[in-house]
Parts: sequence; C-alpha cells; structure tokens
Amino acid sequence: MDFNQPAGTNLFDNARVIGKPTPRIDGPLKTTGTAPYAYERHDVAPDAAYGYILGAAIAKGRISAMNVAEARRAPGVVAIVAAPDVAPVGKGMGNVAPLFGGSDVAHYHQAIAVVVAETFEQARAAAALIRVDYDRTPGAFDLARAAPHAGAEEQDDGAGDGGDPQSQQTPKRIGDFADAFAAAPVKVDATYTTPDESHAMIEPHATIAGWDGDKLTLWTSNQMIAWSKSSMAKILGIAEENVRLDSPYIGGGFGSKLFVRADAVCAALAAKEAGRPVKIALQRPLIANNTAHRHATIQRIRLGAGRDGRITAIAHECWSGNLDGQSGEDGTAQTPVLYAGANRLVASRVTHLDLPEGNAMRAPGEAVGHLALEVAMDELAEATGMDPVALRLANEPTGEVPGKPGTRYSERNLTRCLTEGAERFGWARRNARPGAVRDGRWLVGMGVAAGYRGAPTQKSAARVRLEADGLLVVETDMTDIGTGSYTIIAQTAAETMGLPLDRVSVRLGDSAFPAAAGSGGQWGAASSTAGVYAACVALRRKIGEQLGFAADDATFADGRITAGDRSWALTDAGAQVAEDGIAFGDFQKGYDLGTYAGHFAEVAVDAFTGVTRIRRMLAVCDAGRILNPMSARSQVIGAMVMAAGGALMEELVVDTRFGLFVNHDLAGYEVPVHLDIPHQEVVFLDTVDPVSTPLKAKGVGELGICGPGAAIANAIYNATGIRVREYPLTLDKYLDQLPQVA
Ligand code: MOS
Repeated sequence: MDFNQPAGTNLFDNARVIGKPTPRIDGPLKTTGTAPYAYERHDVAPDAAYGYILGAAIAKGRISAMNVAEARRAPGVVAIVAAPDVAPVGKGMGNVAPLFGGSDVAHYHQAIAVVVAETFEQARAAAALIRVDYDRTPGAFDLARAAPHAGAEEQDDGAGDGGDPQSQQTPKRIGDFADAFAAAPVKVDATYTTPDESHAMIEPHATIAGWDGDKLTLWTSNQMIAWSKSSMAKILGIAEENVRLDSPYIGGGFGSKLFVRADAVCAALAAKEAGRPVKIALQRPLIANNTAHRHATIQRIRLGAGRDGRITAIAHECWSGNLDGQSGEDGTAQTPVLYAGANRLVASRVTHLDLPEGNAMRAPGEAVGHLALEVAMDELAEATGMDPVALRLANEPTGEVPGKPGTRYSERNLTRCLTEGAERFGWARRNARPGAVRDGRWLVGMGVAAGYRGAPTQKSAARVRLEADGLLVVETDMTDIGTGSYTIIAQTAAETMGLPLDRVSVRLGDSAFPAAAGSGGQWGAASSTAGVYAACVALRRKIGEQLGFAADDATFADGRITAGDRSWALTDAGAQVAEDGIAFGDFQKGYDLGTYAGHFAEVAVDAFTGVTRIRRMLAVCDAGRILNPMSARSQVIGAMVMAAGGALMEELVVDTRFGLFVNHDLAGYEVPVHLDIPHQEVVFLDTVDPVSTPLKAKGVGELGICGPGAAIANAIYNATGIRVREYPLTLDKYLDQLPQVA
C-alpha cells in the first residue's frame, strides 16, 4: 500500500479497539516470567555451550602477544577464538568500531577473545588465564580538550585550529544571526554540558548462535531485525538467506540493540569453531565500554529577544566526539522546529575521541538538546521578566517551520500542551522569585519545558493469515522492546478485520517474517501498525474476491462482513493469507512530522543538605492518535523517569588518563529507583495527524524524554536561585551556594 497523500476519513475514526486502553497481551507472559528472552531459550539449543568475552584492557593500541595455552587446558573449555587470529569484522554496520578481530584495539573493553566452555563459570575462569601484552598508544579521551573552541565567542564559522576536529557540519544559517544578536535588547549566552550516558537496559545483549551446515540462526535480543540480518550476513560473508534472527522478547533496548554487537558476532564465530551452539550474554561490567553509549555534549546557546520576549536571534551549537570523528550527538535537533525567530544559526560539530563508541540512545539529539535549549528559554524568561509559559507562547511559529524553510508542520499543538498543562499543574501558584518558597527545610520550586521529538515513518510489512476457525495470525519482524508492539498490532488487526482482540495472535521478531520498520527513532508504533493495516486490507480484498463483494465498501465487524444487503461470516471464504506493507510517499518530505509536549515538574531541595526530591511531574502530549493509551502512558512515564535520571544522576564517568568509563556496572551507574520518582501524570491531547499514517498516529516512546529534565533543572533554579549548567545536577555542584539562599 502506498501512502501518498494525507489520510482521509477511515475506519480508525470510528474505532472500537484502536485507541482504547488495552492491557498488554504479552503481560501474563512477562509477569509470570515465562516470556522467553534470548539467553533463556533453553529449548532451542539444549546442547549450547557457554561463551565468555574477554575485553581489552587498554583504550587504544595493539595486542602485541596473546597466549591462550593455559586457558585451553582449563576445565570444561571447548574452544577459544582469539581476535588476532581473525580478520576484523563488524565496523560500519550502524556502529563505528570493529566488533571483533585483529590486533588493533580501538577502545577499552573491545572484545579480544571469546572462551567457550561447558559452563559459564568454566568459561569465565578460563578467560582469566589468557595472557595479553599490549602496546599502548595515547588517545583523545576528554571532550572539553578535544573540542577546545566549544563555547567560545568565535565559533560562528566552525572550529579553529586546535584539537582534532574531523567533522564540521556547515552551520545552518537563516538571516543574520550575529547582527540580530548584537542588536537584541535582551540576551542570553550560556553553555551547558551533558555527560556520556549508558542505556542501562535490564536485559544485557545476549545471543544463542547455532549453525546448521552453512545456515546460521541467532536467537538474540535486537531492535532492528532486517538491518541486523543483513549486517550479520556481511560480517560473516554469507548469503542473507542463510541468516535467521529471532527476537520475540526484548528486555529493553533504548537504542543499544539497534545494531548487532559483540555478543552476536562472537557467538556466531565461536559456534562455528566449537561445532555446536554457543550462548553469550555480554557481562554487565563489559556493556558500558564494549558497546555504545549516548555521547557527552557541550552546547552553547545564544538567544536574542525584544523586551516583549519575542526571539529575534537564536543560535545553538553542539560539540560531541566519537571514534570516527563524524557521528555525534546532535543536540540541536529540535532547535529549527520549536520556536520562531528570523535570524538563526545551528551547528553540530563532532571531534575525534578514542572513548568507546557513541551511538543512538533514546531520542538521540533531542534528549540532551532540550537540557540546553529549554533551560536557556528559562533564562530568557527571567531576563525579560516574563512567565516561562508565556514566553514560549510568544514564540510560537506561524506558517512554515522557521528553521526548515519550505517545510510545514503536519500537526502541532504545543500551545495547547503548555496552556492545558499549566492549568492542570497549578502553574499559576508558582512564585516567579527564585528561592522564595519554603516548606520546612525544603526549598520548593516549579519548572516548565516544551518538548519536541521528530516522528519519522519507515516502510513496514506484515503477513496476516486467517485460519479456518477464525483465528487471525499476524506475522512481522517488528520487535517489542517493552513498548507494547504486540498489543497495538493486535488492536490494528482486530480493528481492520472486525474481530475481538482475543481472536488475533501476533508473532514478532523473526526474520522469517516480512520486514517491518523495527523499533527505533520513535517510528515503530506508527509505521508497523500501518504495515499491518496494509496487510489486513489486502486480506479483506482477497476475501472479497472469493465471496464476490467490493472489500473497500464492506464493513468488517463482530466476525462478520456486510456489503450492501448481503452478509457473511468472516470465515466463509475459508483459510486465507495475505501479505503487504506500507510505503510512505515523498509528500511527507514537505512536512515536519513531529510530536510535542508540555512538561512540568515540582521539586524540593533540602536547604541544608542540597538533596533534591522531585515532587510531581506532568506531561501533556500531542502525538497524533494514541493507539493504546495504557501502553503509550507507560512509554511516556518511563521516558520521564529516564529524563529525571539524566537531569539528576546519570553519568558515565570518564577516566581521561586511561580512556574508559569507570562506573561500568549498575552499582556505579546510577539510575532512578522508585523512591526517586513521584506521582507522574500523563495527558494525551485528542489529536490526529493525517499526514503521518492511515491510523493518523505517531510515536511517543522518545517524546517523553525530551523536556522533563529541563523542567526539573528549571524547577531547581526556581527553588534555589542557583543555576547549574553542567549535568547531571548533583548536589556537589550547588551545595556551596546554598547557604546564601537558606
Ligand atoms: Mo532509538 S535510540 O532509535 O532505539
């Protein structure tokens, strides 16, 4: 099905199943511990041996010698694959460093050997007996030093001579920023930093690999099945049809599992060497340095405005670093879209760093971009003496997207998000004077931030099979990373075929099924349900041809079909199967497809200890038709928790001498726990977006992390009058200033 123009009125506008709060159909499996995750698929390869990955102990250099003799003699050892014996593989599969092989070390904890043994403990013990000698070379491990011009005055035209800047995105200019900023009566010029962050998903990267002749099956945990199948074929030099990935349940991804990682590659190589299936879970302490993380950023924002708060000049520059010196964290992503302003400058610069690979983590770009832009807006509100909500309303664009000439908003209701949010949150009770509200020992404050996240679409296919007894089976390689894909896909099929939800069975994550959009970039829900709709429309037409009616004019409801004055049972044509997908037309390029939110937070800061407690959070979201308010709310709540973590505690601490993340486990990498998170409220506006998909839906999984962190930072400022621009906002950064307030 080609989606070549905005959707007109269709069956989803009178939906019975879509849009209704629906408990997850996979919920019982999850809550009873019977959903089979990759490492626990004991049935698929009962004879699997255990693999254990040895990570490099240096950040940059060469393995000069590796001795595995003693390890080979250790009890239970089945096979050892040493990186120096294998050609480097896996670079450029969406990632930037080799996943295994060769003697060169590009980053700390790069996989350099895999030991296979009868038990996990034997493999681990043997790995400890491998002797490695290295030639270490110096590396660049400190973003602030590698990007020496970050925050500097002369940065309008790209980096100067210092550091090793490899990639200079040409600044995007509209109008004349420098002149307009110089002339603006009110100015903000501030630099914000965000640290490296870890996805910290519960389920580690894990794979069971089994060869049957030259055919490889990977029971794994992966967000993007079709991409990863293709990557594995290239890595191993085998035909794509000889690779199968199966990933029905995934214990969290957040972008960490968009691409194949060392677990899959090492399991495949080790299984070949061992002559039997091998299972590998990346050891938790290996994940932070072996895989990918969200890049640290340095972001400078300059806002020039009239005394009426209307922005006349806006500049956002972002610096980040990566192994390839090219793929960075673009914190500017939301800036062309969110606010009006005639004179604009946006630039994202990436420098070379020898730290482990930076890559996509939930809302890459925008998640940290809001931590800068939406605090700068708070600073502008104060400088103009305006209310922060009113300031944002005063800068609502009219007409085209101000930073993307020739592009229109497909649907944008940010003003409603902010005004309805302010009303619900009791924003009018906020005291604009910082540090003015006390509750015993607590300093109390409120903050607001706008939120934007792009809502791209990706082609997506499915197969639907109506069985003779009326059960509808949906098959697509779409994944469910804890997001609720199973349920919204079942809802879509039930709606389109006129069946109750319990007559639909959904099978996901197997590369043998038609290729779907996968879970990434907040495109999964909207794209995959559109693909399932397309397949169901094909099935309706097929049934129509058999029974002699025009399917597009017929009504499918309650297990029956009605066309004019004729009526059939859905199963009257017997068992049927159809396959189709959705392809999104170029007309979408004329639009900025986005999702919006108004985020509000109330915090209390202990006047004596500096401890910050979040008291309330609210998100009012504008994200098209909400397919399942229950799972969508869960997505936004989870993202708000993650945003709170980013604002207050999450940080991969860089050892800038040796080039590694020091706190590389869940004991040292702090994420919010229940006690850190208060009551959260999520409201969805009843909006639809006909430009997006036939269901007029958009994603929400990443919207929820775009803005709440800034709302928390602004609330801390409102509570204390102390502005910290270096995330996370841990109390050591403001405790010394508290006595002046308290
Ligand atoms: Mo998302 S960071 O594209 O999984």
